[in-house]
Amino acid sequence: MKIAPSLLACDFSKMGEELVKVDKGGADWIHLDVMDGHFVPNLTIGPAIIKALRPLSKMPFDVHLMITDPINYIDAFVDAGADIITFHIEANSDINATIDKINSYGIKSGLVIKPDTPAESVFPYLSKIYMVLIMTVEPGFGGQSFMEDMMPKAKIIRDEAKRRGLDIVIEADGGISSKTIKAVADAGIDVSVSGTGVFKAKDVKAEIELLKSY
Ligand code: DX5
Ligand code: ZN
Repeated sequence: MKIAPSLLACDFSKMGEELVKVDKGGADWIHLDVMDGHFVPNLTIGPAIIKALRPLSKMPFDVHLMITDPINYIDAFVDAGADIITFHIEANSDINATIDKINSYGIKSGLVIKPDTPAESVFPYLSKIYMVLIMTVEPGFGGQSFMEDMMPKAKIIRDEAKRRGLDIVIEADGGISSKTIKAVADAGIDVSVSGTGVFKAKDVKAEIELLKSY
């Protein structure tokens, strides 16, 4: 299992140090939650913060856009140093055009589905995206409870990708910790986002190692 700690749960007064801490602790990617107070009822960070963090780590920057019009901000997040940009299929931007825009920069694109959105909704785009992100909480806030009933979506997407000979990375996000990681691993998820689970652990390095062992 690859682990992508979500900086949403870190101490915001020392984001740089927190990033370096999980990098040294063995994290695979860093997950950056961008919220616009419109698509979700919360506001977080934007491209300026991500750009400031970029020189501090070589880990892939996995940018999760929870914003209404992702297509208008792709340039800014590419310029900030994103390696992967995911956006919600429920957002307002034209889905194909947004994927094409991300791909045109030579970085990786992905689609995110909220808990109420069926797995099949990503099928039309599978051939042009790198990743599907399955939300295991309602997007907007860290620290919520993991929704295990989202796990069957992974098999539905994996089976369709296999049937069409496509390689797809599947990530899960929300409520993932040492208590819930087994269900995520059993479902065949490739990458787990963990905010509270990692940053609120007594020993961050040990927690990341434990999560990665699944
Ligand atoms: C929720 C975010 C998640 C969240 C994960 O909208 O997309 O990345 O911060 O945090 P935990 O692990 O605390 O649920
Ligand atoms: Zn996220």
